[in-house]
Amino acid sequence: MSSNDTLQAHSDSHPPSPDSKGGGPYILLFFFIGVALSLVVGWGVFPKLLYSQKNQPFDFNHKNHLEMVDNGCQSCHFFRADGSFSGSPRLAQCVECHEEMQGQSEDEAIFVEEYVSKGQEVPWLVYARQPDCVFFSHSAHVNGAKMDCITCHGHIGTSESLKTYEFNRITGYSRDIWGRSISGLKSNSWDRMKMDDCAECHAKYDAVHDSSVQTKRDACFVCHK
Ligand code: HEC
Ligand code: HEC
Ligand code: HEC
Ligand code: HEC
Ligand code: HEC
Repeated sequence: MSSNDTLQAHSDSHPPSPDSKGGGPYILLFFFIGVALSLVVGWGVFPKLLYSQKNQPFDFNHKNHLEMVDNGCQSCHFFRADGSFSGSPRLAQCVECHEEMQGQSEDEAIFVEEYVSKGQEVPWLVYARQPDCVFFSHSAHVNGAKMDCITCHGHIGTSESLKTYEFNRITGYSRDIWGRSISGLKSNSWDRMKMDDCAECHAKYDAVHDSSVQTKRDACFVCHK
């Protein structure tokens, strides 16, 4: 028997049916197109539909301002005598310099015309804003635990411009809480600030500094008053 006969005999015993012809590769192709489409929808389209974008009332350059103030971050974000944190700056902290235009930028023009001259507070959008049910204290973290602003906020404090604010259309949460990556992976401590992210750091801290049960910082009432 030659090798040719073997081949012949083999194909005779399995005559290809007309509709299975080439079916395998096509099914695979459709499968991969399907996978690709759902990836595009899941990773590309869905987040765009889910997140709505808003711009800040005008842009603000942290880097420039840091060179002009005497007291670094605290010139604008400081602790009051009672330990509460001032948060976003109020107009009164800006007017000593901005009663009149200081430069030529359009952002400053909006600031001076729409807010300073009308005595109107700027409706800043807060990237780190948590829902009302969450209790957070800057003093416990910054004064107590001596934590750096960067740990939770990233590099906003030295940035040249304020990024676009994104919020979830369904929950209303800022995207800085839910995280940019839909895979749920995070590479920086400031990429996401959901309940688990707060709790994870608390658990680590408690394990190292304080193993007594009464002071555990993972009890619900620590963060929900
Ligand atoms: C120590 C003085 C000083 C203080 C305080 C200050 N600014 Fe400015 N700011 C300036 C000067 C000077 C410029 C002009 C920079 C330029 O255009 O070259 C400027 C520029 C700006 C601009 C144009 C864009 C930019 O950021 O460069 C905006 C908007 C602005 N300031 C908003 C604010 C707000 C809001 C506050 C309060 C939270 C504030 N400034 C506090 C001095 C100050
Ligand atoms: C001249 C005033 C000024 C100084 C100095 C300043 N900031 Fe700001 N900062 C602002 C303004 C105005 C905003 C916009 C308001 C907002 O988003 O809360 C802002 C916003 C922020 C935010 C965003 C908070 C959020 O979630 O929306 C962070 C974080 C921040 N600043 C950190 C810093 C750090 C860190 C420094 C020092 C390295 C610093 N800032 C110095 C005026 C200032
Ligand atoms: C442990 C994490 C953490 C650290 C450290 C931290 N922040 Fe925050 N910051 C937050 C959270 C969470 C919020 C939102 C609070 C809320 O919504 O009640 C916030 C809000 C803010 C806001 C907006 C506040 C408002 O209500 O207007 C500013 C401005 C800010 N932080 C600046 C700073 C600066 C400056 C530092 C360093 C001195 C700092 N933060 C350190 C977590 C942190
Ligand atoms: C990177 C670490 C870290 C992150 C992230 C963090 N915390 Fe904390 N938190 C601490 C540490 C450390 C303390 C203890 C400070 C002390 O007792 O001196 C603390 C203390 C607190 C306290 C005071 C509890 C007490 O009685 O001592 C509250 C409330 C709190 N955190 C809420 C939050 C919330 C809400 C978030 C998330 C939005 C958060 N924290 C994120 C490290 C963190
Ligand atoms: C370390 C701080 C921390 C602790 C401890 C904590 N939470 Fe939370 N919780 C948060 C933060 C921050 C959010 C908002 C972000 C989110 O939804 O992940 C939240 C959100 C929630 C929400 C959703 C509220 C809403 O409006 O969507 C519920 C429900 C909740 N927590 C229940 C609990 C319960 C029950 C416990 C105790 C087993 C607990 N939490 C312990 C920080 C904490």
